[in-house]
Amino acid sequence: KKHRVADAEPRKIGRCAVVGAGVMGAGIAYWLSTRRHEVILRDLDDDALAKGMKSISKSYDESRKRRILTPIEAARGMDRILPSSVPVPLDRCDLVIEAAVERLDIKRKVFADLSARVRPDTILATNTSALPIHELADSISHPDRLVGLHFFNPVHRMPLVEVVRTSTTSDETLATAVAFVRSIGKLPVVVKDAPGFLVNRILMPYLVEASRIFERGGDPKVIDDAMLDFGMPMGPLRLLDEVGLDVAAHVARTLAEAFPNRMSVPDLLETLIAKGHLGKKSGSGFYIYENHSNTPNP
Ligand code: 3HC
Repeated sequence: KKHRVADAEPRKIGRCAVVGAGVMGAGIAYWLSTRRHEVILRDLDDDALAKGMKSISKSYDESRKRRILTPIEAARGMDRILPSSVPVPLDRCDLVIEAAVERLDIKRKVFADLSARVRPDTILATNTSALPIHELADSISHPDRLVGLHFFNPVHRMPLVEVVRTSTTSDETLATAVAFVRSIGKLPVVVKDAPGFLVNRILMPYLVEASRIFERGGDPKVIDDAMLDFGMPMGPLRLLDEVGLDVAAHVARTLAEAFPNRMSVPDLLETLIAKGHLGKKSGSGFYIYENHSNTPNP
């Protein structure tokens, strides 16, 4: 019952590549490297790559401070990551996880390029939060190796990974993806290639509703504290800021298109985004983060 995938035998995954060195790409690369996978971290943009490597290095510092890893383990982990802003051979990679920007046209280009440079049996995974994964299938050869691997932010802390089965995903690919997720100490849930998959379909209406209460004049601290006291690990407006208002709006839009009678993107989100308040990463969202002050944004 626990996500057994027909009788398919999972394949072993060794070396990986992660495409995109943003918050998710860097978080995934860090996590895989702590689990002894060699990881090629790719980004076209040198600055983005440097930023990603800096955040990985900070995670390793943190893991040393918290005594999760010894200094030697942390140094070895860091050494397993090979950053690259130019194309490097990917023929030794068993798995590539794409975590580039959430635009189908860009992802299609990335997958077409990957498909030409990896082995025919290399599993090609996307970390998309909301895009229909099957629409990447015709960008690659052997679309039976296409799968979604949807990690959550912060990657080092969130146990669940959604394994998205598309109409082309083979049993072997799915079995390998599920076994891989378990092998890196995460908990897989197999989901359909449907808008919002499972988690965002449940989580996003909750977050959107919180922003509507705020829009009607609710005090952000009261809203967040109430949900903290209720038992959530983080208030919904803080969580929106963590996720990024642009990312959240993108997921909300996808859900609104699929379920127009029960979901819409609040105007407030669009207004904040248009003004450049994208959440923590831009320094402000529902809260202001300058000097880590974490005060509500007037
Ligand atoms: N390496 C490994 N582990 C680390 C680490 C590191 N560098 N740094 C910290 N940790 C571990 C610690 O060991 C500790 O583990 P333990 O609880 O097992 O002892 C744990 O992380 C605690 O770290 P913190 O003290 O930093 O975390 P908090 O307890 O303050 O919690 C939080 C912070 C995890 C962010 C919590 O507030 C939370 O769960 N918030 C909700 C997050 C959430 O919902 N994310 C999903 C967003 S939606 C999304 O991503 C989907 C997208 O598609 C939109």
